[in-house]
Amino acid sequence: MLVTSGGQFPSFHFLIILFIIVTTVRSGSARITSTFTRSEWPSTDIPLDNEAFAIPKGHNAPQQVHITQGDYDGKAVIITWVTTDEPGSSKVLYGTLEKKYDFSAEGNVTNYTFSNYSSGYIHHCLVHGLEPDTKYYYKIGDGGSSREFWFQTPPKIDPDTSYTFGIIGDLGQTYNSLSTLEHYMQSGAQTVLFVGDLSYADRYEFNDVGVRWDSWGRFVERSAAYQPWIWTAGNHEVEYMPNMGEVLPFKSYLHRYATPYMASQSSNPLWYAVRRASAHIIVLSSYSPFVKYTPQWKWLREELKRVDREKTPWLIVLMHAPMYSSNVAHYMEGESMRAVFESWFVHAKVDLIFAGHVHAYERSYRISNIHYNITNGDRYPIPDKSAPVYITVGDGGNQEGLAGRFVDPQPEYSSFREASYGHSTLEIKNRTHAFYHWNRNDDGKKVPTDSVVFYNQYWARNLQRRRLKRNHIRTIERGTATFC
Ligand SMILES: *[C@@H]1O[C@H](CO)[C@@H](O)[C@H](O)[C@H]1NC(C)=O
Ligand SMILES: *[C@@H]1O[C@H](CO)[C@@H](O)[C@H](O)[C@H]1NC(C)=O
Ligand SMILES: *[C@@H]1O[C@H](CO)[C@@H](O)[C@H](O)[C@H]1NC(C)=O
Ligand SMILES: *[C@@H]1O[C@H](CO)[C@@H](O)[C@H](O)[C@H]1NC(C)=O
Ligand SMILES: *[C@@H]1O[C@H](CO)[C@@H](O)[C@H](O)[C@H]1NC(C)=O
Ligand SMILES: [Fe+2]
Repeated sequence: MLVTSGGQFPSFHFLIILFIIVTTVRSGSARITSTFTRSEWPSTDIPLDNEAFAIPKGHNAPQQVHITQGDYDGKAVIITWVTTDEPGSSKVLYGTLEKKYDFSAEGNVTNYTFSNYSSGYIHHCLVHGLEPDTKYYYKIGDGGSSREFWFQTPPKIDPDTSYTFGIIGDLGQTYNSLSTLEHYMQSGAQTVLFVGDLSYADRYEFNDVGVRWDSWGRFVERSAAYQPWIWTAGNHEVEYMPNMGEVLPFKSYLHRYATPYMASQSSNPLWYAVRRASAHIIVLSSYSPFVKYTPQWKWLREELKRVDREKTPWLIVLMHAPMYSSNVAHYMEGESMRAVFESWFVHAKVDLIFAGHVHAYERSYRISNIHYNITNGDRYPIPDKSAPVYITVGDGGNQEGLAGRFVDPQPEYSSFREASYGHSTLEIKNRTHAFYHWNRNDDGKKVPTDSVVFYNQYWARNLQRRRLKRNHIRTIERGTATFC
């Protein structure tokens, strides 16, 4: 049923074929609304004294350690940590041999208040000039309380480099969040594309808002200290809370989570771009001005011109509010951004757009809705092979629970949707092929549930056109299609 020329990876294709057979038998249609239901754990935050939030021992020991890419091309990282007793040193010792630190970098320290909470001392340190594809060890903190970690730099920018990204959204700090994080860490992915809504600390009041940012920092350290998390801001980062005297948007988030925005000539840490291995990743802010003439709009227009598919074939966009979602929750909240940016994404042949916000999973077909104007009434999404695939991965597991109600019937543009907790992985193989999986937590076992081969929108057009044609014939014959 799924004919491939080449067929160098039989086991993977076998899995896909199995998947298609299973889902075809079950639904008899190309569009799938999964009926899987799980015995849900209560969507409550893990108590603060749980070991998931363990405070490292020792006077002023660094905690909440996390790293992110520190430049445009992956030769730098920003290392962030918090000390609570005194500012202490902002220095990072690092090197390529364990326990032997030949280099050091000096960072800076900041602190802030939020309502009646006073933060610890938040250190940010840029470590740059790193060798590609190299394991670095690093050490932070003073004396007996110092701590050591490591990370692997990405291969240098190259169109055929393989690299695996994980995609996590709306994580929070519940037992489901922990399950997602643990499953993600077993995936072998090398960098997280985080699509917004980090701690859900804004569900708390006064002092506890800051306390829950701190617990979340300790919660994700197990992954984020060892590999970069590429941050996108969500609505839970806004924290406009005038009842507590807090009216400066993104205050906690901006103090705690640095981004390399200046490296992509952005004027604001909330929107920026990085290039990593064979991917160009654009991060947008759904909760900052983006209409025509605003800084974000102007920046994106310029950044799209800087994309070079000869160097980075894979063009990926991250945002929090999805532009296409058929879930009842947050219905059409992404419409305003869609109206402004969708035609750019289609013309730029963006490969994939990942979003969160809706606490469920959904993947679209390649569709667009860019013909509409205020007089022509031409307002329906249509199949468009230049268009991105839209994927919502808002199912990290936060305390608000799952968004279980989808619009019925499933719209034409929606390929697969399921309201379960999980994360995705995008395994870029080379300039033409990427293997994609959505992995449902499934109460403890990692189960790849939605698996697709993505062909690059720039490099695989001819290949794709041939396959689409063949697939179209099969679609008519069998009523199924899974190529994107
Ligand atoms: C930051 O820390 C210093 C030293 O403890 C303290 O004096 C100052 O008030 C703090 N600033 C804020 C904004 O919390
Ligand atoms: C912060 O303020 C709230 C509300 O007034 C109060 O209940 C709480 O005890 C205060 N906490 C601290 C640490 O000051
Ligand atoms: C602190 O360091 C980070 C990482 O290099 C940088 O992004 C930030 O601008 C610095 N902040 C200040 C106030 O210098
Ligand atoms: C709007 O749509 C109509 C009908 O298709 C077309 O004639 C007109 O040129 C369009 N206007 C703009 C500004 O695109
Ligand atoms: C790209 O990767 C795919 C999947 O592993 C493989 O089938 C294909 O031959 C590769 N293309 C090149 C040019 O190596
Ligand atoms: Fe959200």
